[in-house]
Amino acid sequence: MKKYYIFASLLLGISSLSHAQQPVRESKGFYQFLTDDPNQKPFYSDRQGVMAQQGMVASAHPESSRVGTAILKKGGNAVDAAVAVQFALAVVHPSAGNIGGGGFMVFRAADGKSYTLDFREKAPLKGSKDMYLDAQGNVIPRLSTLGHLASGVPGSVAGMAAAHARFGKLPWADLLQPAIDLAQKGVIQTDREARGLNAIKESTQQVNPGTTYFLRSDGRAWQEGDTLVQKDLAKVLRAIQKKGREGFYAGRVARQLAKEMKKNKGIISKKDLKEYQAKWREPIIGDYKNYKIITMPPTSSGGVALMQLLRLTEPYPLTRWGWNTDSTAQVMIEAERRVYADRAKFLGDPDFVDVPVDKLISYDYLKERWQDFSFDQATDSKAVSGGNLPGYESLETTHFSIVDKDRNAVAITTTLNGGYGSKVIVKGGGFFMNNEMDDFSVKAGVPNMFGLIGNKANEIAPSKRMLSSMTPTIVEKDGQLYMVVGTPGGSTIITAVYQTILNVLEHGMTMQQSVNALKFHHQWLPDKTVFETGAFTENTINKLQNRGYILEQQRNTMGRMDCILVLPNGTLEGASDPRGDDTSVGY
Ligand code: GLY
Repeated sequence: MKKYYIFASLLLGISSLSHAQQPVRESKGFYQFLTDDPNQKPFYSDRQGVMAQQGMVASAHPESSRVGTAILKKGGNAVDAAVAVQFALAVVHPSAGNIGGGGFMVFRAADGKSYTLDFREKAPLKGSKDMYLDAQGNVIPRLSTLGHLASGVPGSVAGMAAAHARFGKLPWADLLQPAIDLAQKGVIQTDREARGLNAIKESTQQVNPGTTYFLRSDGRAWQEGDTLVQKDLAKVLRAIQKKGREGFYAGRVARQLAKEMKKNKGIISKKDLKEYQAKWREPIIGDYKNYKIITMPPTSSGGVALMQLLRLTEPYPLTRWGWNTDSTAQVMIEAERRVYADRAKFLGDPDFVDVPVDKLISYDYLKERWQDFSFDQATDSKAVSGGNLPGYESLETTHFSIVDKDRNAVAITTTLNGGYGSKVIVKGGGFFMNNEMDDFSVKAGVPNMFGLIGNKANEIAPSKRMLSSMTPTIVEKDGQLYMVVGTPGGSTIITAVYQTILNVLEHGMTMQQSVNALKFHHQWLPDKTVFETGAFTENTINKLQNRGYILEQQRNTMGRMDCILVLPNGTLEGASDPRGDDTSVGY
């Protein structure tokens, strides 16, 4: 047990994931209140999946799931429900649900065709490569995570408008109404939401001095059962209801947002807002055994990384070895080490850099990458830089899954980046802005808030999208819809999705058992495997340590999955993560 550290982590363990020798940017946030105690007990849940025949919505909050299911019952399709859920989450789950952030959608239509929509934020036109560095070229602490300069140009409203214009069935106005009602009449706070609001009181005052947004009128701390009313947000949602994307990117709301920025040394302008467009991209579609994986291409790294991980693992008998045994874990950890090194070197906005997606996920390339793997000894991360490709010149988020009666399926992961984003609350609008600029590599080799390292491919440029780890994914079996999957969790998103898929495909778990299951994570640098308490037996820990693996234990912080599985008889199993308020609602 010599290298086995019991470890107090902050913010999803993120501070722990930061490279020890590197300066670490902002690592405090919403989940600070979840600071582990050293006597932590393993997190176990025997939550059962929710079964339904017609439709299912799995999301981070019971209200947003109810809203989505009501839209399905009204005759809306999965895209209609997704639009309603996205706006409802902006009201009921303000740490991550958003109109001031961005995200990605994977959509598989009932006819089997697949589509992906990139509504990731962009760097403002005035953004520049060195905007977070001082005169000596050092990273200025917190500039890319807290306050007005940390925000990218939001994409969520444009994304929802684009999705609805192409695939929606119900009138747009009907999809906004539930969110407007929730904002106007108020949302009953869960214990988790109440604690989240209390935890950010200081930072929201620091960024928005004197603001009364998200404070109780009597000054007391929020408690479970309190009602949060958001009248200004309701007005913004009404403008979006009336004018579509123009209700956000033009007119009063755009003026409010641009004014908020200008007054506080932010750089997002009315021009940035006017020019923002969501973008349809070709999905990554690849085989894993007799399954088809449909996932998000860059600007997210998630899909490339997930395909690489699955293909590196494919030759090994994980089912026979068993769940989280030393051999299974070793192969998965070594795959993760190589994949995150590639992420740092090759991945960035494909509109700005040539991302060699096909090569990175090709079997030939992956075979080459695996050559130095040995069961005897852990590979040294220092020896694993990004691979060589011939001819090539680098928690808080939320996910929801929806399946409708025709078996259209939507997976959306959306984010403000850190919990409550930059903590900027737009005056007059009452909504949080993202701090997504931190997902750029603000300086080559310096880790971001998730400890992720980047390079030239992900450096800042005007109107460029920052690299993401979000991995909304849909799995087909025998040509039919099988699984819809995704999670928040910063850099751990990719590995949590990977494990959740393998748990079902290789280890025979139900969707809910797979979501409940304890998880682990390696991201190349820092060179250590972080695992949820109880994810490995003592025997496995000893075996891995004897082969040179450094292991660190943390509490139940990996994944906040919201997934749906189609069972052989057509029943839908909704599986929402017991680690949060996540809830599946079906009918
Ligand atoms: N902001 C987290 C991500 O996009 O990966």
